[in-house]
Amino acid sequence: MISSDYIPEGYEGAELVGSRDELLTAEFNGQVNLYIYPEILPYDFTDFANRIYNHFAGWWPTKKTMLEFGSGTESDCSTSTDFRDLKFFCCTGKNQNLKSRFDFINENYQYLLGKDRQPVLRFVRDYDARTKKLHVDGNSLNPDGRIMKTYTRTGTEWARNDDVENISEIGPGDEVRLKEHAVIQKLPRGSMSKHAATSSPRFVHRPKSTNLIHCILVA
Ligand SMILES: [Fe+2]
Repeated sequence: MISSDYIPEGYEGAELVGSRDELLTAEFNGQVNLYIYPEILPYDFTDFANRIYNHFAGWWPTKKTMLEFGSGTESDCSTSTDFRDLKFFCCTGKNQNLKSRFDFINENYQYLLGKDRQPVLRFVRDYDARTKKLHVDGNSLNPDGRIMKTYTRTGTEWARNDDVENISEIGPGDEVRLKEHAVIQKLPRGSMSKHAATSSPRFVHRPKSTNLIHCILVA
């Protein structure tokens, strides 16, 4: 188990869980808007993410900023590609590094599919301006919460409920007003998390900003 020092001491708006099953069934009520299942990744995924992105994203200057692999039934962007295309690319060559990393992600992907989620694997070079700002997610997302697992970069950055001035009335697209001494929290890379999308209190967050290709599983 990873240390829980990424949940601020005494803070009751986020909870650790002991398994993925527990994460999937945990409910949002009261003040909790974030559940975290910590996991240490067995690999570095930086090279994997770069290779996939460079192979599938197209050519400059029209190169896509976000690639998405899934079943095609749920998508936030128009660039969705069948997950089987990714499997074909990673598993038919002789590159064991690609295959081992794909196999690890695929186990997570199949697990979520088996739980009636519709996972998509994203490779992101850059987010749109609205997503880069602190925000809460929209109503189109799963009312049971949004699952995320980050393979590269540190995970999502987020704010405690009591650090957000307008937490009780905030909606998708609204500007987040942080209190004066608010501290931005960070989810650790590799953890699987579930955050509230439609329930109250909403989860205020933004992606970690770096110049790496971000590889993240979302469901
Ligand atoms: Fe979001």
